[in-house]
Amino acid sequence: MNGRVALVTGGTRGIGAAISAALHANGYRVVVTYVSDDRAAHEFSLRTGISRLKLDGGDADACKTALSQLTERFGPVEVLVNNAGITRDAVLHRMQPEQWAAVIQNNLTACFNLCREVVPGMRERGFGRIINIGSINGQTGQVGQTAYAAAKAGLHGFTMALAREGASKGITVNLVAPGYIETDMVRSVNPEILQRIIAQIPVGRLGTPEEVARAVLFLASDQSGFITGSTLTINGGHHMA
Ligand code: CAA
Repeated sequence: MNGRVALVTGGTRGIGAAISAALHANGYRVVVTYVSDDRAAHEFSLRTGISRLKLDGGDADACKTALSQLTERFGPVEVLVNNAGITRDAVLHRMQPEQWAAVIQNNLTACFNLCREVVPGMRERGFGRIINIGSINGQTGQVGQTAYAAAKAGLHGFTMALAREGASKGITVNLVAPGYIETDMVRSVNPEILQRIIAQIPVGRLGTPEEVARAVLFLASDQSGFITGSTLTINGGHHMA
């Protein structure tokens, strides 16, 4: 059994749930964060046996408190998957400052807040795996997503910078950039627009959360120590860089 402690943000639904399930099945001691739906999170834990933690990653003080409690209970976090993300899609000329701020806070600042809590311990112990979940739309841009694309593109730069800082200490930092995956977030896109998007995917379908989870599991492993600062795109050929 692996036994490493893995923290997956937004880990009760969609891609995050598939990631936490894959890590759990491979012997990691997984803790997932969620923000608001206590009942769904409770049911998730009952169904999967995975521990949960209510945490708004955008709140730096809350991250500090939560990470110290988590470490006391489970031990230090050795794998951090920054998966939690939100959209507030609107074209820029209609986007409100609150929409911009919420997206940057949840998708980008939360990653900073959590990395800041776990990186010192990873440096001391000489091992760490940080996997950030980006998006095809951080690579290509998308109408209605100036905030989301900026946050996800920001994660690319963040990943490369932190990868350089952690490399000599056994910490790898990588980004997985999914394309359009079968999740509630994608299902909420206007069906006509979504059909047009799917028509542009060479593989001809949406991806599954499990297809993303497999890549995260690979990057989390002890054997992936020479992969750092990289971007792994999982998008059915939708965008080839
Ligand atoms: N190109 C350029 N301009 C466009 C456009 C396009 N493709 N589509 C719309 N516009 C313009 C319109 O001309 C219009 O301009 P005016 O205000 O001057 O009239 C304006 O944008 C608004 O158009 P609509 O009223 O038709 O659009 P809306 O406000 O109802 O919806 C939207 C806009 C919410 C952004 C909608 O287009 C949309 O949902 N697009 C899809 C966004 C998307 O792909 N989101 C991905 C979500 S999943 C995800 O993010 C996961 C992941 O990582 C992949």
